[in-house]
Amino acid sequence: MIILGIETSCDETSVAIVEAKGNLQNPSFKILSNVVLSQTKIHAHWGGVVPMMAKREHSKNLIPIMIKSLTKANLFKNTKSEARNPKQILNPKFQILNSILNREPELLEQFLKIIPTIETPEIDVIAVTVGPGLEPALWVGINFAGALALVWNKPVVAINHMEGHTVASLLKSNLKYQNSKQIQFPAIALLVSGGHTELVLIKKWGDYKIIGETRDDAAGECFDKTARMLELPYPGGPIVAKMAAKIKNKKLKIKSAIQKLKQTTNNEIKLPRPMIDSKDYDFSFSGLKTAVLYMLKDMKERSVNIDDFTPVICHEIQQAIIDVLIAKTIKAAKEFNAKSIILGGGVAANKELRAQFKKSIKELASTALHLPSAKLATDNAAMIAAAGHLHAVKKEFTNPENLTAQGNSSLN
Ligand code: KG4
Ligand code: ZN
Repeated sequence: MIILGIETSCDETSVAIVEAKGNLQNPSFKILSNVVLSQTKIHAHWGGVVPMMAKREHSKNLIPIMIKSLTKANLFKNTKSEARNPKQILNPKFQILNSILNREPELLEQFLKIIPTIETPEIDVIAVTVGPGLEPALWVGINFAGALALVWNKPVVAINHMEGHTVASLLKSNLKYQNSKQIQFPAIALLVSGGHTELVLIKKWGDYKIIGETRDDAAGECFDKTARMLELPYPGGPIVAKMAAKIKNKKLKIKSAIQKLKQTTNNEIKLPRPMIDSKDYDFSFSGLKTAVLYMLKDMKERSVNIDDFTPVICHEIQQAIIDVLIAKTIKAAKEFNAKSIILGGGVAANKELRAQFKKSIKELASTALHLPSAKLATDNAAMIAAAGHLHAVKKEFTNPENLTAQGNSSLN
């Protein structure tokens, strides 16, 4: 089965082609192409994602990105016939197409110009993210998927973005089939992104139960917001990680920096690990964010040059987040006798988190750790296409005209 995946839930526009084989118990995947265009530079200016700007960028870029993706996968062909009047070619579907894309005028214009000039590619299914995410952004991908499905006469599957992040751990970036045989169930997935932090119990593919989630800010959001307080650019996760890594000989340098701080302010750079010992599997990162805010305020009042301490502060923020994520995940894995722990979402790209998870997993004799590559941890359409396979094998198709954005949809 060849699946074309489309992802536009936040600030990455992505189209991927994934070849899949096997059934629901034993799926395996080969990424033929995975083109991702990040808008972070555009949003960085505003300190976070601006939904209407994200929507405009997706509209402008989806078709060129899809062509690039089809080309990479060797599935792109221009039609042999001369370009004709698109209305004639797309007739009698033109009316429906017009109504599907009428909220995306820029995309409709490109669609009418370009789609009639390319041959229907040899794909079997279209998979598109329908939520959770920013609704204006989600709608662009959804309407595009609906329009393609209609014109190319292909079935379409509606995908939950978090399921995509879960399945990403099954993919390899190279052109080899990645067999998921080694993922044994029950599994515990820790999904950590810009908008979500959740622990999911997976009994089999398609059977998900959220056993804990954040009560306020997500882990990625905590990285982003505390980075902003430190006047570091969006997105915060990668830059906080980079700053934290500046402390090479960690213990010594942290000690001496803290010593220096103590001499000037009587202060210590120590942040709370919210809910680390709570009985449930929930998280809360807004308290951590507030603790950083007060710490910086106090330092400023004492005329401390914060720049001197940015790496130490970043290191402590990162470590506080890692400590909570690992403690809760290991606890859940023990309680539910998990045979696998799966990581997913943008924060799973964090090198320290990955390294410390690898160490902690050794505590559990019969649990394997499954990490997506850093590139596949952040938003991309290959993970959506792979999740699409899990639904296509069950023929869970949606009528293109009935696809809707579900900004707050949950994995449950
Ligand atoms: O999954 P994702 O790409 O998009 C959403 O679905 O939200 O996750 C984005 C989040 C952002 O908050 C970003 O700061 C964080 O993932 N992130 C990281 C790293 N790379 C991205 N956080 C920590 N360390 C990283 N290396
Ligand atoms: Zn995501």
